[in-house]
Amino acid sequence: MSTGQNTADVAVVGLGRVGLPLALSFADRGLTVVGIDNDPVRLGAVRDGVMPFQETGGQELLDRVISNPAHPRLSLSERVADAARARQIVLTLGTPSFSHIEIDMRDIRSALDDLLGVLAPGHSLILRSTVAPGTTEFVAGYLAKHRGFRIGEDVFVAHAPERIAAGRFLEEIDTLPCIVGGVGARSGEVVGEMFGAFEAPIVQTTPVQAELAKIWANILRYANFALPNLLMMDCERYSANVFEVIDLINRDYPRGGIAQPGFTAGTCLRKDFAFSEERSAAPGMLLAVSRVNESVPLFLLEGARRRLGSLANRKVAVLGLAFKADTDDERDSLSHKLIRLLERELADVAVHDPHVATPTVPFEEAVEGAEVVFVAANHSEFREPRALAAITERAAADCLVVDPWNCWDAAQVFAYASELVALRPTHPARG
Ligand SMILES: NC(=O)c1ccc[n+]([C@@H]2O[C@H](COP(=O)([O-])OP(=O)(O)OC[C@H]3O[C@@H](n4cnc5c(N)ncnc54)[C@H](O)[C@@H]3O)[C@@H](O)[C@H]2O)c1
Repeated sequence: MSTGQNTADVAVVGLGRVGLPLALSFADRGLTVVGIDNDPVRLGAVRDGVMPFQETGGQELLDRVISNPAHPRLSLSERVADAARARQIVLTLGTPSFSHIEIDMRDIRSALDDLLGVLAPGHSLILRSTVAPGTTEFVAGYLAKHRGFRIGEDVFVAHAPERIAAGRFLEEIDTLPCIVGGVGARSGEVVGEMFGAFEAPIVQTTPVQAELAKIWANILRYANFALPNLLMMDCERYSANVFEVIDLINRDYPRGGIAQPGFTAGTCLRKDFAFSEERSAAPGMLLAVSRVNESVPLFLLEGARRRLGSLANRKVAVLGLAFKADTDDERDSLSHKLIRLLERELADVAVHDPHVATPTVPFEEAVEGAEVVFVAANHSEFREPRALAAITERAAADCLVVDPWNCWDAAQVFAYASELVALRPTHPARG
């Protein structure tokens, strides 16, 4: 079947951190792509050949795709309806969660409504966004209800969740099994053909299983990191050293494997558990996991206050705004929460992050005269021994360093800078 007037192979709606690398990768593999985003600034950047965010190899990929004017593979539009120029339409829109513990699918609904009048037999609609269980069947039902399509026969609907980690897109697009949950008889097969542009194996399943597999992969990580975070808080209560306890758990023990503490957040982990919690068989369990991770900034702040007294009018440096190491993505980062909490203590906060777009002060300026330094993101730059040396040189003499990441292998969440230098192993494992 064909829509009869396709001028492109694939449309990607939403050129964010997921959609843009995907659109460029399809184009790079020789498909003709329409990239759609309602943000003119984003489209302008892509048109100008500037990658709007960091993604390993992303700038080179963009250069390759747009420097081929003889064979333009990527066209851009602000209009979602222009997606109908392609046979396969991939939605890579944001899916946050409401504070009501419910998926916020307003962007998906809005795009669906824009597409409703222009879809024709032969079109495929693929949800690449992370969605709550049942959403793919809802989308199929919406098209059937409003247009009378037979889904899986004349129009195809599938969920093919994005499972790639930021910074690893170009490597993982060809290696991570691509899950496809198609609705009806032929959706899985038709959508699987499109992802055949990449080397990764295609794994066919049902829509709801694809949805569950994606969100539970994130729930697994979110819960995995909550355990060492809770252990870190318990260790403080018992005057125990969390890093030593973790070592005791894991060392030569075949059933060990607990992770390390840290700031656990980011745009995916912070909200995807809510998609399960919407209608959980054990309501509250994942909320408790969320509460543990969300309370890490307050735990660290209170730990500093217990050691130093009031933080009011003291200079406090926060190193790292991004939600994880070596990324420029600061969406839903707990570092922002830490800064808000510190400001409510009337501390004088100075922030440094070498990656993010938000302006921050240089490292030396942030730590100069600081009485407390919080390591909020474990960027490679901070794990360097010279970063600790700069803190000891520039910060206040008895500066407290709060480092849940164990950046310098000194194995202390709270320690004075001079102690950290003394405790660092002579053969550091990293940095
Ligand atoms: N970022 C990740 O690492 C990652 C990984 C796996 C899955 N996901 C999931 O993928 C989805 C997209 O995430 P993201 O990080 O790329 O989001 P994003 O916010 O970076 O990108 C969404 C893009 O859609 C555009 N947009 C919003 N509404 C629009 C509309 N009506 N019409 C056209 N464009 C519109 C925005 O301008 C933005 O550029 C989410 O469901 C997310 O949970 C993200």
